[in-house]
Amino acid sequence: MTSEKLTVPAVALGTWAWGDSGEAGEGYFGSRLTEYGLREVVDKAQSNGFTLWDTAAVYGMGRSETVLARALKSYDRGEYQLSTKFTPQIAGDGDDPVADMLEQSLDRLGTDYVDLYWIHNPADVARWTPLLIPLLESGRIRHVGVSNHNLAEIALADRILGEAGFRVEAVQNHYSLLYRGSERAGILDHCREHDVRFFSYMVLEQGALTGRYSPANPLPAGSSRAAVYNRILPQLQALTDRMTAIGADRGASAADVATAWALAKGTTPIIGVTKAAHLDGLVRAHGIELAGEEIAELEALADAAGVDTRGSWEHAM
Ligand SMILES: NC(=O)c1ccc[n+]([C@@H]2O[C@H](COP(=O)([O-])OP(=O)(O)OC[C@H]3O[C@@H](n4cnc5c(N)ncnc54)[C@H](OP(=O)(O)O)[C@@H]3O)[C@@H](O)[C@H]2O)c1
Repeated sequence: MTSEKLTVPAVALGTWAWGDSGEAGEGYFGSRLTEYGLREVVDKAQSNGFTLWDTAAVYGMGRSETVLARALKSYDRGEYQLSTKFTPQIAGDGDDPVADMLEQSLDRLGTDYVDLYWIHNPADVARWTPLLIPLLESGRIRHVGVSNHNLAEIALADRILGEAGFRVEAVQNHYSLLYRGSERAGILDHCREHDVRFFSYMVLEQGALTGRYSPANPLPAGSSRAAVYNRILPQLQALTDRMTAIGADRGASAADVATAWALAKGTTPIIGVTKAAHLDGLVRAHGIELAGEEIAELEALADAAGVDTRGSWEHAM
């Protein structure tokens, strides 16, 4: 059995963009991240109690894990939690591709266990889920979650783990003002009713909901996120303007309002922080209580934008 219940901070931190570091052409996000700057992010996060770090073997093909480990080097292993993922699409052809991918992640992360290990997507739930069991038994992974799974896939994974005395303790899906498929499909309710933590990713829609980017100031040219979001920025303007106004009343930003919204929905946002100042935003967001009317107004504006931001890796919930 998992020895201890999964306990996490109110907001988790995502490091997909960190995989860009040092990549020619600046990678998926077009971010210019430096080792020094990311160490500042880590120090500010750790000192503010944001100590859960989400990464994946595929983020920058290992680079995110490596850079994260370097930035966390001066902290004791017990001072932070690591969350990383098995991605079926890059599984090797050995006897146990899950154990193999985990070992490679542990090596890059410089540790002998991860706190939270995810099956990144539901490519073949019946094939991959059972391979988590020996890793839970050996303590190489402490807790298990599934990502991008729909209700039936979550239930199947839970049943498979349940036969060995374990359970799906967390779900990680795309969930933002613009993309509420998991809510409409009943996954948020399911998680609440079954004591499963729901982690929402891309709450800021990779920068498009931060208020920083607009048709006049688009996402970095040539990056993958620019290719997805720049053409819809005009449709998001009314929403981001309202988020900015709601934030201004509280000395906060549009990004803080997006995070506060995800918190108000009972989820644990995973925010892809890239700058130390973003941590100030998370502290503010944690203190914001949105009124019911504000939430309804923001959701109506998001629906009126009429955009579909489903990632190319996701299937409909
Ligand atoms: N399981 C999955 O399939 C999956 C898929 C996607 C993401 N994720 C996880 O979820 C995390 C979050 O998603 P994401 O990183 O793709 O996108 P995100 O959190 O929606 O947006 C991240 C971008 O927003 C800006 N930003 C971050 N924090 C901010 C703040 N507090 N205030 C203002 N701007 C801020 C940064 O852009 P600038 O650098 O341009 O300022 C950053 O690159 C990922 O890092 C990853 O860990 C998981």
